[in-house]
Amino acid sequence: MKEGLGDEFHIAALAAMPQSRGLGTGSKMIAFAEEEALRQRFTACSLTVSLGNPDAKRLYERLGYRVTEELPGMSLQRMRKALI
Ligand SMILES: CC(C)(COP(=O)(O)OP(=O)(O)OC[C@H]1O[C@@H](n2cnc3c(N)ncnc32)[C@H](O)[C@@H]1OP(=O)(O)O)[C@@H](O)C(=O)NCCC(=O)NCCS
Repeated sequence: MKEGLGDEFHIAALAAMPQSRGLGTGSKMIAFAEEEALRQRFTACSLTVSLGNPDAKRLYERLGYRVTEELPGMSLQRMRKALI
């Protein structure tokens, strides 16, 4: 779930079981990752989202993540949230 990239704690993969989606599990996992990032003294969290996954992107935006980079040729956007 995590790997350090400079000051960023990167959330490398996020998924909830299909039967539990929409019940807050994803939000809780991100909150847990952010708490762990702060505990390890990272100052930001990042993740990538597919252009074909607008529902996930909306969730990340609601939690404070913003697009910082288009990853060319991969249909992915990198998103970042400052923690402090
Ligand atoms: C994206 C994912 C991790 C979110 O987990 P979750 O437990 O459903 O998230 P929460 O319940 O905390 O939040 C719900 C929000 O997630 C978003 N979402 C994304 N995919 C969803 C799905 N299949 N079902 C329900 N909500 C989904 C919605 O925007 C929803 O917000 P809304 O209520 O405003 O519509 C989960 O839906 C999932 O595992 N999806 C498949 C794998 C995936 O796409 N991973 C992300 C890769 S970047």
